[in-house]
Amino acid sequence: MAREIHSVGVVGLGTMGAGIAEVAARNGLTVVGVEVDDLCVARAREHIGNSTERAVAGGKFDAGERDALLRRITFTTDLRDLADVDLVVEAIPESLELKASVFTALEQVCRPEVILASNTSSLSVTEIGVHTGRPGKVVGVHFFNPAPVQKLVEIVRTVVTEPDVVADVEAFARRLGKEPVVIGDRAGFIANALLFGYLNHAASMYESRYASREDLDAAMRFGCGYPMGPLALLDLIGLDTAYEILETMYRQSRNRLHAPTPVLKQMITAGLLGRKSGRGFYTYDGVDSPVVV
Ligand code: 3HC
Repeated sequence: MAREIHSVGVVGLGTMGAGIAEVAARNGLTVVGVEVDDLCVARAREHIGNSTERAVAGGKFDAGERDALLRRITFTTDLRDLADVDLVVEAIPESLELKASVFTALEQVCRPEVILASNTSSLSVTEIGVHTGRPGKVVGVHFFNPAPVQKLVEIVRTVVTEPDVVADVEAFARRLGKEPVVIGDRAGFIANALLFGYLNHAASMYESRYASREDLDAAMRFGCGYPMGPLALLDLIGLDTAYEILETMYRQSRNRLHAPTPVLKQMITAGLLGRKSGRGFYTYDGVDSPVVV
């Protein structure tokens, strides 16, 4: 019988986790959001506050509905507050060591039938799952940025994920208004495996001064109908995140398409991470100054 999912724990409330918490609350679920300290909780509250404010301004729902949505989310810094949730989605930074320790702790806290899902975009779900005593209940649920907008959720099954767990997570994704697809545990899953070769190639074309950033982006927007060009998208994703994803895929497949183009590493070292740091290929918080290559 399918699990009833009324409440969700979201561990890690950065850009993706906060977006996932918002989407779940928007669709009537009770959410317990976990962060490491009060500062991170405050940042997550602000993120969700701004995003829902924007939705009200855009007429997606009214102020009363927004207040009800916000009341469905509680925040904590203690994982033990997830004892009663029906499903957990982990969205902490992409470190196997960190994720392993969170999953080991979740194993102690959550009821035995509870599904433990990871939003990882570049690590192996199988490797995360073996750090629990219930690898059959561990699954990937990969959301896309911005989570409140993008419809896709990739559901990643490992060789030991139980079929009913996959079915229940598919139903959960549909309940959030998302379009689920199911894939085995390979680096990049479907979308990133296809997307990041293209993004990397665009960065490399920029690096070799083949075209300006504006023209590279305009070509893909106006020629191919993409909502944003590849360099603007790298800024949205975050260059550090993009680099990690490329590295992981390259390590696994040795496909040269995924060997990170050197300018990415240089920009990360210089603190140009994209929108989140105020500057990447474009500037978001001051006078624009294109990256010199
Ligand atoms: N949170 C909530 N809502 C948001 C939002 C956010 N961060 N950003 C945009 N929106 C909403 C707006 O409110 C607006 O809603 P409305 O149409 O109902 O008014 C709608 O999205 C469109 O926003 P804008 O008018 O501000 O801007 P655009 O039309 O340019 O859309 C975009 C912005 C949605 C980001 C669009 O450009 C887009 O889809 N870009 C491609 C993004 C993409 O490819 N994401 C996947 C990245 S890969 C990934 O995430 C995988 C990971 O592992 C790295």
